[in-house]
This record gives sequence, structure tokens and C-alpha cells, in this order.
Amino acid sequence: MTRGVLEVVLDALPSHWPAAPASSAEFLCAFLPVPSPEFFPPIPVGGTPLLEVPALRRALGMKNLWVKDDTRNPSGSTKDRASFLVVAKAREYGCKTIAAASTGNAATALACVAAASGIHAVVFVPAATPEAKLVQMLSYGAQVLPVAGSYDDAFELCLAACREFGWYNRNTALNPFTSEGKKTAALEIAASLAPESPDVVLVPTGDGVILSGVAKGFADLLRCGLIRRVPRLIAVQPQGSAAIVNALEKNAEAITPVPNASSVADSLVVQAPRNTLQCLRAIRASSGGGVAVSDEAIIRAISELARLTGVFAEPASAAALAGLHAALAKGLVQREERVVLLVTGSGLKDVPAASRAVARPTPIPANLAAVAERIRRDAAS
Ligand SMILES: Cc1ncc(COP(=O)(O)O)c(C=O)c1O
Repeated sequence: MTRGVLEVVLDALPSHWPAAPASSAEFLCAFLPVPSPEFFPPIPVGGTPLLEVPALRRALGMKNLWVKDDTRNPSGSTKDRASFLVVAKAREYGCKTIAAASTGNAATALACVAAASGIHAVVFVPAATPEAKLVQMLSYGAQVLPVAGSYDDAFELCLAACREFGWYNRNTALNPFTSEGKKTAALEIAASLAPESPDVVLVPTGDGVILSGVAKGFADLLRCGLIRRVPRLIAVQPQGSAAIVNALEKNAEAITPVPNASSVADSLVVQAPRNTLQCLRAIRASSGGGVAVSDEAIIRAISELARLTGVFAEPASAAALAGLHAALAKGLVQREERVVLLVTGSGLKDVPAASRAVARPTPIPANLAAVAERIRRDAAS
């Protein structure tokens, strides 16, 4: 099992916010370890909106709440940020094939960005990966290897295959450019809110790489003096797959694996998270914490987020809102604080899960009387 992951340390960071937008090549070259914009994949990633969500603010009594809508990335998840940098590095190094193990989104993101760049992608996913993610990665033309086993099994197989066949490995929590790529989410949040910073960012967490990447982004900004402090980072995990939150609650240095990890939030299901050292360190250094949420709370959060913000999220990413409810209840977050929810993946990736939170209407006859009758009945119920 991998214990630690290398971290990228940049020699030089900008001393002021670049004038160009946070997703532009000029901005990215200033903050990412890429020698020239020519290596960036020819598909825009990031630059997603930080939404003010007035209806959700009213519902929660929180005036300073934002949703970072990362569902709007090209393949529909935050994982595109990692793939963008990994594929840039593969182009720089002249690699022809990139492989990754994934619960679904990292594979889809790699397949997407590799397709745009004319690079071959080989992806290892648990055979139980949701249909939409499988179809998406197949459509992008990746070589998909569904593994009869868990994500952890797929991870080990991908490691062995990369050693055997000499492929460039994008595995999250192995390739340091995955975490470095994800830091752009933090750069964008900070750039949008400058000169203020958020007090708290809630991050759906499986392996802990997105959270570590977000932490790295804020740490780089602190290092170059563009923010005054790092926000408290709160990891949100499903109760059925909560190794990192359990370690935080026990104040333990290391995690205890959860052998039969399971949740409706498939993207967060991992028995032994791979990036625990960096993730636990980042949470503790930020004076943050963790919350575990039930599958029922996650399903409720999908429809609450969609109704009150217009953002349709897959279970793993709606977990951020479920986590906010839990963090408010535990006193980890105060209502007047400046809070950002990182919403990491599109609801279109797992429609069956979202359908559990809505009542599907029966068809009506094609006449106005039936419309009036249905409206009256629904209003009364
Ligand atoms: C949509 C979504 N959110 C959150 C996560 C958790 O990211 P990490 O495993 O880096 O903690 C994942 C991981 O696959 C994901 O796909």
C-alpha cells in the first residue's frame, strides 16, 4: 500500500494575482509546473463558477455561502483538473499511453482529456461502476478494463500493469500531478473572493486527493502572500466509507481500513484511502475537521441542492451539502462564516441514485382538464 505521495514544490510563485482569468494559460503557467502553455491539453478545464446560491442561503440562514460548481468541467467532475495537468506532463515527457485506476470519474476525466490530446488512455475501474460513467469513458475511446473486484483491487492492478507495460500512471495518490492539478479549484475560489478568503471549504472525500489538492492551492497562495490564511478544510465522507473521518475523530495518526466500504456515493467508496498522510495533515493544519453522513442524507442533499441552486450533483458531490448540515449540527461551522461547498461531479453520472429522491409523476391525458386536475391534486398534497 502507498503510504505517502510526493508533493510538487514550485521554485517561484507570482507575487500578485495575474491579470488573466484563473483558467487562462497565462494564469495556469504562473501556478502549475508546466514549462510552456503548448503542453496544455486543447480542451478547457476549470474556470467553473462560484455561485452565490441565494435560495440555499435563505434556507440555511447563511449569508456567506457559495457553491463551486465543478460539475461544469468537460467530463463533468473535478477530476478533469487532475487529468489536465497529468496529460500536460505526459505531452511534455512524450508519453503515448496513460493508465489510471478509478472509481469512475478519474477514468472518465482521463479518457476525456486524453481523447482531446490524441493520447491513448487505459483505465481500470470496478465492474460495478455506474453505467453512465462507463459509457462516457468508452465513448471517449479509452481502453476500459472493468475489474471484478473493488476500487482497491483496480488500483493495485493498474500499478502492476504500468510497471509491466511502461505506461505513464495517473493513479490518484500516486502521481503527484493529480493533487497539484486539483489545486486550481482553490486558486479559482480564492481569486473569485479576493481580497477576502473563505473561512471554511467542505470537500467530498474518498482517497483524500481533492482535499489535499485544495489545501495545496491555498498553501501556495499563502506562501506567495495572496491570501492571509488557509480556510478550515472539512472532509465529508459517507458513513459506510469513512476511514479518514474515523481517524480524525480518534485523533489517530493513521487510518484503519474499512474492509467492506460501501455507499450510494460510489465515488467516495474506498477501503483504505491512498492519500491519508497528506489529507490528515492538511485538515489538521487548517484546524478543520471531518463529518460522516448517511446515504439517506446524501440522497436528500441531491434534490435539495438541485432545487435551491440549480446544480444537479452525483451522490458523492451532493455529499458536500449533506456534510454542511452535519457540520452545522456539530458546531464545526457557524452560520455567519464564509463557507464554500465544492460540488465535484454531475448528477447525470448517476441518474438512478438521484431518482431515489424524487417522486416520478404518472402520465396524464393530453387535455387541459387533466392539467388542471393534476395541479390541484399536487398543490393539495
Ligand atoms: C465526484 C467526486 N467527488 C469526490 C471524490 C473524492 O476525491 P478523492 O478520492 O480525491 O478524495 C471523487 C473521487 O473519485 C469524485 O469522483
